[in-house]
Amino acid sequence: MLRYAIIGFGGLGKVHMNNMLRLEQAHPGRMKLCAICGASKEAFFENVSLNFGTVDISKIDLTECGFYEDYKELIDTEKPDFVISATPTFMHEEVALYALERGIHILSEKPMALTEEGCTRMIEAADRSSAKLMIGQSARFTSAAIRIKQFLDEGTYGKVRRMEFCRYSQTPLWTYNNWILDPEKSGGCVLDMHIHDVDLMNYLFGMPKSVRSVGTHDKGELESVITRYDYDDKVVTGSADWSMPQTYPFTKQTIINFEKATVVYTPEKKLMVYTDEESHEENIPPEDSHFVELTTFIDWILDDKDCTHLTNPLSVRDSLRIALAETKSLRTGETVRL
Ligand SMILES: NC(=O)c1ccc[n+]([C@@H]2O[C@H](COP(=O)([O-])OP(=O)(O)OC[C@H]3O[C@@H](n4cnc5c(N)ncnc54)[C@H](O)[C@@H]3O)[C@@H](O)[C@H]2O)c1
Repeated sequence: MLRYAIIGFGGLGKVHMNNMLRLEQAHPGRMKLCAICGASKEAFFENVSLNFGTVDISKIDLTECGFYEDYKELIDTEKPDFVISATPTFMHEEVALYALERGIHILSEKPMALTEEGCTRMIEAADRSSAKLMIGQSARFTSAAIRIKQFLDEGTYGKVRRMEFCRYSQTPLWTYNNWILDPEKSGGCVLDMHIHDVDLMNYLFGMPKSVRSVGTHDKGELESVITRYDYDDKVVTGSADWSMPQTYPFTKQTIINFEKATVVYTPEKKLMVYTDEESHEENIPPEDSHFVELTTFIDWILDDKDCTHLTNPLSVRDSLRIALAETKSLRTGETVRL
């Protein structure tokens, strides 16, 4: 029986706990939640609403679970076999290093770290450790992304000529002490939200040669971005904005022009295919990317099912490099080479 802990028990930590309880049922007797860690005891029992939903914590039995306010104390006392870390972004690196250095597997939330050097330290710690490191770049695990990757690999509609993506959110006000609004702690809209689409682009097409970004700073720093990504054989543009009013619904859309079809992932979470002859909606499972991602991690931990073709920290570090280059470009007004 493997014992696990959740470190960072806010909005996303609670989503992960809900999904882990589903996975415990799917693997009876093979793993058990032993402890959770958050900054304050009161925060454990708050129901936090993220832009994609809420987990009702009152329905979950935590009587056999240890509560910690210090992740080092949790790790040293409980000695879990693996941890899921959904702490504020500025803590990702230190929590991952602490776990990996003690041989504890870790699923660590996105963005991987705040700097490329931080990512490298995490990769080196994983290389030295017997433990596994996976980063929660969940966009790779959406049903739409899985089908689009299949179209690309199988050449279903030919090569990609153009891709355009966007993601809009109300200003995020749900995080602990509003850490997310401080770009020094979260990386702003680019590293926190836009990175999902950047990571998917990098997963599908690899690194662009350069980026040129513009953005706004009306309500805070690094609140919106529009970028042109320079590839030899395709045109890619992307945007994100988290300064939308509180009543604005969370929205994302991706449009890909293949040679023989246009594929659109719509704000209604439908995957549409348009050709000159017909149009249809692809039959894909409802989006549950966090659950699919967690299943991938658990299959790796429990049954050693390799997932490095889907996600590995080297590729995720590249996604962070692209996002950091965008931040630099929108601050300097210059094209940034990669
Ligand atoms: N993959 C995704 O789709 C996705 C979605 C949302 C958030 N995230 C990522 O998850 C992370 C957490 O985001 P969130 O929205 O849940 O934030 P949050 O503020 O709701 O949760 C953070 C939690 O960390 C705890 N915490 C703060 N300081 C701590 C400390 N010193 N020690 C231990 N715990 C501490 C807080 O108590 C809080 O419970 C972020 O890095 C964010 O980028 C990923």
